[in-house]
Order: sequence, then structure tokens, then C-alpha cells
Amino acid sequence: MSTAPLRTATAAPSHIVIEPSILYFGTPVVLLSTENEDGSFNLAPISSAWALGHTVVLGLGREGQTARNLRSRPDVVINLPAPDQWQAVERLAPLTGRSPVPSTKAKGCRFEPDKFGAAGLREEPSDVVRPPRVAECPVQLEAHAERVRPDVAGGFVIVEAVVRKVHADPRIVVPGTDHVDPAAWSPLVYNFRHYFGLGPELGHSYRTETPHRRQVD
Ligand SMILES: Cc1cc2nc3c(=O)[nH]c(=O)nc-3n(C[C@H](O)[C@H](O)[C@H](O)COP(=O)(O)O)c2cc1C
Repeated sequence: MSTAPLRTATAAPSHIVIEPSILYFGTPVVLLSTENEDGSFNLAPISSAWALGHTVVLGLGREGQTARNLRSRPDVVINLPAPDQWQAVERLAPLTGRSPVPSTKAKGCRFEPDKFGAAGLREEPSDVVRPPRVAECPVQLEAHAERVRPDVAGGFVIVEAVVRKVHADPRIVVPGTDHVDPAAWSPLVYNFRHYFGLGPELGHSYRTETPHRRQVD
């Protein structure tokens, strides 16, 4: 076995150790519509969302209205905004559907019972769940929260939502197929609390099933 040191004293370090307050390394924003106790609807942006097949895993603050709703009323629509909708998303950022506002909410957070109106977004009825879709979002996933459980640290809940119906704006679908066209669709990415769209395509997976409209050099 080698006894050589991992790094010599004179070598420049390749990385520095930092202590960031957040680890939001760039994930798509989704808008969750859920049903409140009184039958009205709540809308909240989150970026802790990712898909495993047709299950979408969501990470939610334990004391928010969305987590509260999903514990009792599991229907949810996972709406995916496009990059040019970032300002509507940001209008929702300081709002909660929970009253009184929990002390754990960020400073400046206030109660808003009409989140659709506050964001300037339109409700569109869903087909198989009770909360409405966000009409302006190019992708809308009607889903059912099958499992809602605490995370390991206790401040969040982890939701596993099974998608039952997918709606897509025809402009982002390859005509005559069920494929979302990756050249036409971009998520809105939350990157260390700043909003981005996607840059140009770099290449594709060997598993892609989407026909190529043009060859990428
Ligand atoms: C772009 C963006 C991403 C966010 N991501 C999350 C997230 O992943 N999980 C979460 O619980 N809150 C997230 N938030 C904060 C919630 O939107 C915020 O706590 C809101 O008050 C929740 O609303 P509710 O209490 O009505 O559910 C995010 C906010 C923004 C603007």
C-alpha cells in the first residue's frame, strides 16, 4: 500500500471549504395547487421536486399550508412554469396560505388567501383531481400524494405524488407523439435563489426517444 501523502504541502488546493446557508444547486420550479380546508385553493412555488418514473418527490416546509393541505387532502397539481414566468413565481414567494402565519416562515411572509389572483395567474379546472391547474403553465401534472412523511431533520415533509394525468401545451410537444420536445421546452431553474432558463443543448442521452429536429454539432 502506498504511504504517499494525499496532497503535498506546496500543492495549491483544488477546492476551498465553504459553509453556504443553502444548497439550492439548481432545480426546476414547480407551482403546487392544493385544496384548503374551506374548499378554496392554494398555490405555492417549490424547487425541491424531481421525478422517479411517474412519482414526483416533493420537499415541503412542515408548517406551510401546502404540507398541511396534502396531509388531509392529497390531490395536487404540479404545474411547471416557463422561464419567462419567473416574476409571477416571485410574486408568490413572500406569501403563505396559512393564517396565522407560522413563526418559522421567512421574515416578511404574509397571509394571502387568493394566491392565483396575487400572482396574476388563471385557474383552469383539472380532469381527475380537485385543485385547478395553472392555465399559463406549459406542463401541468395532475397527481395524488400517496405518502406524506417527515424528513430526517424534522423541519420538512417529503411527499411522494403519483401523476395521473399530464397536460402539455402543444407547442412543446413533438407533433403526433407523446414526447415533450426538449428543444422547445425549458424549465424555470432556481439556482442558489436566482432564476435561470436552460442554455443551448449540449448533447443527448443514448436513451432519448425524441426524434431530432436538427443535428447538434
Ligand atoms: C422559487 C422558489 C422555490 C421554493 N422552493 C421551496 C421548496 O422546495 N420547499 C418549500 O417548502 N418551500 C419552497 N419555497 C418557499 C415557499 O414557496 C414558501 O414557504 C411559501 O410560503 C409556501 O406557501 P404555503 O405556506 O401557502 O404552502 C420556495 C419559494 C420560491 C419562490
